[in-house]
Amino acid sequence: MAQQRTFSIIKPDATRRNLTGAINAKIEASGLRIIAQKRIHMTEDQAGSFYAVHKERPFYGELVEFMTSGPVVVQVLEGEDAVAAYRGVMGATNPADADEGTIRKEFAESIEANSVHGSDSLENAEIEIKHFFTEDEIVG
Ligand code: CMP
Repeated sequence: MAQQRTFSIIKPDATRRNLTGAINAKIEASGLRIIAQKRIHMTEDQAGSFYAVHKERPFYGELVEFMTSGPVVVQVLEGEDAVAAYRGVMGATNPADADEGTIRKEFAESIEANSVHGSDSLENAEIEIKHFFTEDEIVG
């Protein structure tokens, strides 16, 4: 498998509990490299357009509210088969279904406050990275 880049967000439930370092430790222990990272407070417009694919879902409003409720850390991760690799490190969306040792099993509070986001495809990874980073902010 080829080297890939994927997009990650450490969500407000995790930054609030001071878990950025613990989550980054799990990312780095998996072999993925954090090649760009910044802590931001998303605006409603940023969160709304980032999650536009979920606009019709019943949880969309609450999701935007949650993602703007505190700081997040947006990241670009690089490594072998990075999109699938990071999904493995995160665990299932619902922490109740997540495997032992995954970020969501260990840290997530609920299906909404699930500590991290990761791209679901290589195509979406490119789109999501461009939402938050310019090419000169990514240092591989
Ligand atoms: P994420 O990977 O960021 O992608 C969409 C997010 O919507 C997801 O993680 C969850 O935080 C949230 N989400 C997904 N399903 C539900 C749900 N049934 N109820 C509330 N939030 C959800």
